[in-house]
Amino acid sequence: MTLLHNDTIDTLLNRRTIRSWTDEALSEDELETLETVAQRAATSQYLNGWSALRITDPAVAAELARIGNQPYIAQAPALYIFIIDAYRNLRIAREAGVPEADMTFDADYIFTQSQNDAVLALHAMETAAESLGLGTVILGSILNDVPAVISLLGLPEKTFPVLGLAVGHPAQTPALKPRMPRELQIFENTYPAASEGASGEGAAPSMHEALAGFDAEVAQYYDLRFPDQPVKAFTEQIAATSTDTGRLAKAFGEPARAQGFTGRGL
Ligand SMILES: Cc1cc2nc3c(=O)[nH]c(=O)nc-3n(C[C@H](O)[C@H](O)[C@H](O)COP(=O)(O)O)c2cc1C
Repeated sequence: MTLLHNDTIDTLLNRRTIRSWTDEALSEDELETLETVAQRAATSQYLNGWSALRITDPAVAAELARIGNQPYIAQAPALYIFIIDAYRNLRIAREAGVPEADMTFDADYIFTQSQNDAVLALHAMETAAESLGLGTVILGSILNDVPAVISLLGLPEKTFPVLGLAVGHPAQTPALKPRMPRELQIFENTYPAASEGASGEGAAPSMHEALAGFDAEVAQYYDLRFPDQPVKAFTEQIAATSTDTGRLAKAFGEPARAQGFTGRGL
């Protein structure tokens, strides 16, 4: 089988994370294009349940870099924070006279649906940026301290930070980071989990066996982030992060409730 090619596919196939940029600012046309493309993304139930903040104040960017513990956040020529936004729709409903007690903007479904919207919009912006020769990094690190981000950005009730996106003219050319064989990630009809743990003739290979070739490829990858360290095999990386307690601190429950998402199932 041969991959088909056009400009869009080639942009997507060549995408890689960029964490260093030249000082060149993005033009107003570039910014407007990226923002308009983000707005064109699909949006669940047409709720338009996301917004983005373009960060132009160096002090705010510096604080986000501190929260994310990633200095390049402050060095990005353009920086966006994508958020779940049910506040705008809440105001619309209020102004329309809908009784507050009847509103369901606090539902967990609104939270996840708007999060999906925000990610799709971010990804559209990312792809558009790449197609213009720009380089981007998605920033989950801003979630290290959600209450701090909410306060820093003045996020009102029924909003919640999702991810950042830093954009600029690339000042590095990292290699493409390997991806696992397609058949281990894209399945047909049902999830092939049933034979896990089976042994003997005809048993499925273990994940470690199935991923051995990919592991070897990953170990060859030259990671510009940690140039002095050998890259661990993928299975080693996963095993090492499986007990990472850092992510417990990123639990959304309490900060989300404080923003008015009670998480009630409806
Ligand atoms: C949801 C999400 C959050 C991410 N957060 C960060 C981040 O905070 N900082 C960072 O440097 N890279 C971040 N990344 C980039 C990943 O590390 C990167 O996509 C992954 O290592 C694969 O490398 P590649 O994008 O070059 O293929 C994030 C990616 C995603 C999808």
